Amino acid sequence: MLLEVEDIHVHYGKIEALKGVSLEVEEGEIVTLIGANGAGKTTTLKTISGLRRLTSGKILFNGKDISDMPGHKRVVIGISQSPEGRGIFPGMTVMENLLMGAYTRKGDLSEDLERVFGLFGRLAERKDQPCGTMSGGEQQMVAIGRALMSKPKLLLLDEPSMGLAPMLVNQIFKIIKEINEQGTTVLLVEQNAQQALQLAHRAYVLETGRVVKAAPAADLLNDPEVREAYLGASLSQS
Ligand SMILES: Nc1ncnc2c1ncn2[C@@H]1O[C@H](COP(=O)(O)OP(=O)(O)OP(=O)(O)O)[C@@H](O)[C@H]1O
Ligand SMILES: [Mg+2]
Repeated sequence: MLLEVEDIHVHYGKIEALKGVSLEVEEGEIVTLIGANGAGKTTTLKTISGLRRLTSGKILFNGKDISDMPGHKRVVIGISQSPEGRGIFPGMTVMENLLMGAYTRKGDLSEDLERVFGLFGRLAERKDQPCGTMSGGEQQMVAIGRALMSKPKLLLLDEPSMGLAPMLVNQIFKIIKEINEQGTTVLLVEQNAQQALQLAHRAYVLETGRVVKAAPAADLLNDPEVREAYLGASLSQS
């Protein structure tokens, strides 16, 4: 198993945001985490990438306990996150942002840059544009591209489709599929549950800091409770 999250509890001060979350991601999979606002999705990703500390529980990566490993070392061993709200450096160009993503690496980056420009043609055209002047969708591409530059085994994506027009949402989902087919394992957090479940192999539903369902993604697409709560479909129509 590539990633094993075992019963993690995470607090913000006295607030317990994660109340014992367990999940697994196997190499080669796309796994999606869905849930309402405030359910703990971002907190889960941040705890996996080392931005938040856990109070109890364990995180294993390739069988090794990384619960106490600092975030920058997790990047080196193959975990990379594209953060919610993008988190790019607005004053830096596209190229500079991408190179920041490779800060832990030595040696030739040309192949990886080519991979990113192959996935996101728009970025290839705009290498020298300051990211602060790019559109929301373009900035999202930079954020994902930057996360790929560390050559992750596991890519953590926090709401990559947020704020994008429908056409661009479809494009981002296609690109996530392509990234996965090129050999990168993906843990995807999405509000856009319908498309996330169509794309992913397996899914977890998070409710107020707890996993309430874990199943093959296709099964959840047909699950009445999931349809009612997350897919905007009323029971009577299904
Ligand atoms: N920095 C913080 N300080 C205090 N509480 C926080 C902080 N960040 C998150 N929380 C709380 O932890 C809980 C989980 O938040 P989290 O951001 O993980 O949710 P989420 O599932 O990603 O939601 P969304 O879909 O809105 O992005 C929420 O109740 C939130 O208010
Ligand atoms: Mg979030």
